[in-house]
Amino acid sequence: MENSTELRSLAEFEERAKEKLSSDLYFSFYGDTNNGKVVERNKFALERLLLCPNICKDVTNRNMELKLFKESFPFPLGISPTASHELVHPSGELATAKAAESLGIPYVISMFSNVAIENIVKSTVNGFHLAQIQFIKDKNATFDLMKRFERAGVKGFVITIDMPVLHPNKPYSQKLRLKNPQPNSLRQIFADDEMLIVNGSAFDGSYTWEDVKQFKQKTNLPVIVKGILTPQNAIEAINSGVSAIWISNHGGRQMSDCPPTVEALEIISPVVKRYGIPLFIDGGIRSGSDVLKCLALGADMVFLGRPVISGLVVNGIQGIIDTFHILTKDLDANMAMCETGEAVEASA
Ligand SMILES: Cc1cc2nc3c(=O)[nH]c(=O)nc-3n(C[C@H](O)[C@H](O)[C@H](O)COP(=O)(O)O)c2cc1C
Repeated sequence: MENSTELRSLAEFEERAKEKLSSDLYFSFYGDTNNGKVVERNKFALERLLLCPNICKDVTNRNMELKLFKESFPFPLGISPTASHELVHPSGELATAKAAESLGIPYVISMFSNVAIENIVKSTVNGFHLAQIQFIKDKNATFDLMKRFERAGVKGFVITIDMPVLHPNKPYSQKLRLKNPQPNSLRQIFADDEMLIVNGSAFDGSYTWEDVKQFKQKTNLPVIVKGILTPQNAIEAINSGVSAIWISNHGGRQMSDCPPTVEALEIISPVVKRYGIPLFIDGGIRSGSDVLKCLALGADMVFLGRPVISGLVVNGIQGIIDTFHILTKDLDANMAMCETGEAVEASA
């Protein structure tokens, strides 16, 4: 077993994960549609922003807690939905769920998980699980899936709206396609899971905000839309009745030249704040100061995708926990330097 407590940054975790994974798997999990350029753009846009220190204040009492959807979370951090965790760890999503439970943070379960959602949810006692879902060609099947996820005990839904089609450069190698275990969560709907996963022909490119509205009307649970990059789409989402907006460019896996998410946050945040709706973001977050920058720009919660995979690859449950400890310690130190009792008070 690895000792991941010695690793000091998320970059070191990714390096270690790269050593452990086959090049095929590394490409599949860490690639984007543009030779890594979108991933780099997300990170670079965060690096370009700096935090202003405000020192010699009493910063003894610092608080990272966040209250959201009638729950209290110790940190404003969560796990983005990513597919196929069994490909990188034998316990797959069960390990991720345990780590999230231990940290007290939300875990958004991908619709393309290898472990059935019912088993993920019941594997923890205090887990806060949201189900990621997207519109598939048979609309009734989408709603059936929603009801099934509700019965499994999830606390809300994340609709991924940035996948009307599958980008042809989506990083799935041919070898991986053949090896990819069938996604249990979808077995009840598709006899041929390959169809959905590999060529995307089961995705529904016809959906509109009206479908989001209908979805929201059919559940009492919170509905968050993931994949917003413009103020116009944020307003359309809000008008569809959603409970929160999630700024995301899908980690660069859907579009080759889209804006980096933190730049989208800068322009979307003032608009969304007018409606008092929670704002989430992911994409390139790799340090506590990245998190603080997002909070300072108006995000309520910050999510991570690939760093969770790195933690899982390097040291399973403990690897994910150590990854988030690196983030929270760095966030805490930066909050103290920026004289902020609440992370959301920092200015960037
Ligand atoms: C390997 C991989 C699989 C992903 N699978 C999904 C998915 O099933 N559903 C989804 O909404 N987003 C998916 N995403 C996008 C992530 O939810 C998230 O938006 C992105 O990874 C955030 O960027 P980061 O990896 O730089 O943190 C995936 C991303 C990766 C890297």
